[in-house]
Amino acid sequence: MDTQLMQQFVLNDLIEYDPKLRMRKPLFKVPAFVSEIVCYEPGQVTATHHHPVQDEIWVVLEGYGEITIGEEKHAVVPSSMIYIPAGIRHGLVAAPDSRLVLLFIKTPGIPGAAGHGPSEGSALSQAANGTSSTTPVALAAGQLQLEVTDVQAEARDVIQVELRAPGGAELPAFEPGAHLAIDLPNGLHRHYSISSDWRERSRYVIGVARAAQSRGGSLFIHQHLRRGTMLRTSSPRNGFPLNTTAKQYLFLAGGIGITPILAMIRWCQANGRPWRLVYAVRSAQRAAFLETLHDMDGQFVHLHADDLAGCYFDPTPWLAQAPQGEHVYCCGPAAMMETVKAAASHRDPNTVHFEYFAAPTNDMNPLPGNEKTFMIELRKSGRTLEVPRDKSVLDILEANGIPVVSSCREGTCRTCETGVCEGAIDHRDYCLTPQEQQDGRSMMVCVSRAKSERLVLDL
Ligand code: FES
Repeated sequence: MDTQLMQQFVLNDLIEYDPKLRMRKPLFKVPAFVSEIVCYEPGQVTATHHHPVQDEIWVVLEGYGEITIGEEKHAVVPSSMIYIPAGIRHGLVAAPDSRLVLLFIKTPGIPGAAGHGPSEGSALSQAANGTSSTTPVALAAGQLQLEVTDVQAEARDVIQVELRAPGGAELPAFEPGAHLAIDLPNGLHRHYSISSDWRERSRYVIGVARAAQSRGGSLFIHQHLRRGTMLRTSSPRNGFPLNTTAKQYLFLAGGIGITPILAMIRWCQANGRPWRLVYAVRSAQRAAFLETLHDMDGQFVHLHADDLAGCYFDPTPWLAQAPQGEHVYCCGPAAMMETVKAAASHRDPNTVHFEYFAAPTNDMNPLPGNEKTFMIELRKSGRTLEVPRDKSVLDILEANGIPVVSSCREGTCRTCETGVCEGAIDHRDYCLTPQEQQDGRSMMVCVSRAKSERLVLDL
């Protein structure tokens, strides 16, 4: 659209409804503001969300509904106008017996986005080489004490949690794809990807889905985390880095796997890089951050909801059409990851990137199993220990009082990564890159074993 030319729309001509999801049609998108018309069938919703720096005006063209702004609810009636300041949580539901049509007008996003931002990779480079000015909030090397400053429902069984430094100090920089390792008050150690914009240095936002078979992490967060809770976390770490030299990106997100992908899309938007997203969820009601994604550029967001489509997501056509050189980033449940891996087997493996948050259930190498016994030698203490066939290296280290921090214990989170000085590793993790596995400098002691008779660990 040529932003220099006057444009005129007849709004009545744009009204259109979709019984599955509310219908959104962008109108203007110019440097000063963006606008769109949104049509709701009775009962359809705009999920509760907020815009960190965007003020917003809603003009009600026709119909009835109810808007929630902060803690308050207000009736939505025809010919009314609603102003929503930046940073205020808001959501809307159309009345059960009325269609609703709204005109949205918003100020632009974070200054510097969409072509006005920092030069390519500049913030990433700062983050990588530690040149950002950071007010110290660290407890010890690599550790932070953060306060939960907001907890909000984002979709069914998904909440977003905002973390800030007490007193509002600037936080350490992070790259898109990074995560925080969090020590929960119930003693568990869990990893959560950061979904917020890497240019925001005052907060980290994580998304947490209530896992159907939670082992105590996500359930605890959903039930007990409140504003004011203090958490000990790692500094941001990145096991799923974005290749910033790619020409374009295909993002495949499954469920809560959207969190690192969202941060990557923010970077693409800010740097004018082409991207497209397939967001696969079991139910449309579980699709978190959908408002945020549509606000960034809805035309490149393809939502696959199993309950609406009547089938599981099939990545094959998306990967078959993906041009060579397009980098694929996939994060989601193990079953989806395996499907994507198979569908991407014809592509250059250096252009296909995965982040697991659970090991596949058909794990080829479960423990205990038909394994061989091997020896580990601890370089610093000189101790030698035997790892029997039915125990992991981590089991043996813990049994001998050698502390190794662990979390998933299934090779996905990278918490227990341990340096290896000598020996051939039998890698069984889902987090090292093929190159890292080939280099053989470290292993996940919770799952990986030895090909050789002996491994020398950097412990
Ligand atoms: S504890 Fe997560 S990879 Fe070992």
